Amino acid sequence: MVGSSQVPLLLRAARGEKLDRPPVWMMRQAGRYMKAYRDLREKYPSFRERSEIPEVAVEVSLQPWRAFRPDGVILFSDIVTPLPGMGIGMDIAEGKGPIIDNPIRTQAQVDALRTLEPDESLPFIRTILQALRDEVKNESTVLGFVGAPWTLAAYAVEGKGSKTYSVIKNMAFTEPALLHDFLGKLADSIAIYVRHQIDCGAQVVQMFDSWAGQLSPQDYETFALPYQKRVFEQVRQTHPETPLILLISGSAGLLERMKMAEPDIISVDWTVDMADARRRLGADMKVQGNLDPGVLYGSHSFIRDRILDTIRKAGHQGHILNLGHGVLKDTPEDNVRFFFETAKQADELLAVHA
Ligand code: CP3
Repeated sequence: MVGSSQVPLLLRAARGEKLDRPPVWMMRQAGRYMKAYRDLREKYPSFRERSEIPEVAVEVSLQPWRAFRPDGVILFSDIVTPLPGMGIGMDIAEGKGPIIDNPIRTQAQVDALRTLEPDESLPFIRTILQALRDEVKNESTVLGFVGAPWTLAAYAVEGKGSKTYSVIKNMAFTEPALLHDFLGKLADSIAIYVRHQIDCGAQVVQMFDSWAGQLSPQDYETFALPYQKRVFEQVRQTHPETPLILLISGSAGLLERMKMAEPDIISVDWTVDMADARRRLGADMKVQGNLDPGVLYGSHSFIRDRILDTIRKAGHQGHILNLGHGVLKDTPEDNVRFFFETAKQADELLAVHA
């Protein structure tokens, strides 16, 4: 065990090793459901301060690590964080999410964009990721993350979150060349950003294409898939060893097509049964996720049963236990603690509850 224990569990799962139990972490495991986070938010009311002042971002990233010892520690940041470095001004509004200063609507705006230079525009990323690696050592895996081109374009073009994606779909279907030009530029900068996060210490990187599930399959193949693929290909040219995870919200209708982007791991949500996801993706695709974040409102025995059900269906190989999306902000903190504790005892519990 001594040799293999040098490599943290999540990284071993991402490399396809068979394990005694799947590693466990949560999306949005740092955030509003934690009292420690709400307390710190009073001192640093702006999201950009919390995520861009290195000491504060490190502290927030480590709050769940100290409380629950998850197998993955994710950088506290946001998918829109790199946009100002490309020339797209933004802020993250309390309770609303990203707000873009001048939404991208014209070719002149796309022409004026800059290629991301992470050490110049995001100097805090290097400090934060290095500090996280120093702190968790090989007891946990440090995850980086980025938004995918389609989802970042959706924010940049709409100007904010949307229910209908009317503005970007209007652009997609009336001025496709303009949108493709923008998506290509985003892909190249995102690939640079992923490589940078890996150079700074990220051991696994997750790409969020949160809003790609809003596209029909044929439009997914036109506007989302090629650019996901472009990012992954560019990253693999220089960093072939780093596992890359792909997440789409509401992805049940897209699973086979997600595989065409060639991620190492697919994060599935609760709109698909894990056994079906396994069958549809095939034995060679690693999986993560699947539990409805709402499960954490349930009783301890309910939470335990759902964890065991997911593990039975996904197995102990090529499986990272996670929610299908971020933990909800009014989730009882004690249920999050129970989730991690139970997940770590999964091998014994599965034997008892067989
Ligand atoms: O998982 C983690 O712990 C890392 C933190 C993280 C944040 N945003 C912090 C955050 C991650 C991985 C993200 C990614 C992100 N940001 C996505 C992709 C994941 C997804 O949700 O599909 C998206 C779409 C965004 C854009 C965004 N930023 C939204 C929709 C919001 C929430 C608005 C709200 O208030 O409900 C934000 C703000 C944000 N980013 C918060 C957090 C913890 C909430 C504000 C806060 O806690 O102060």
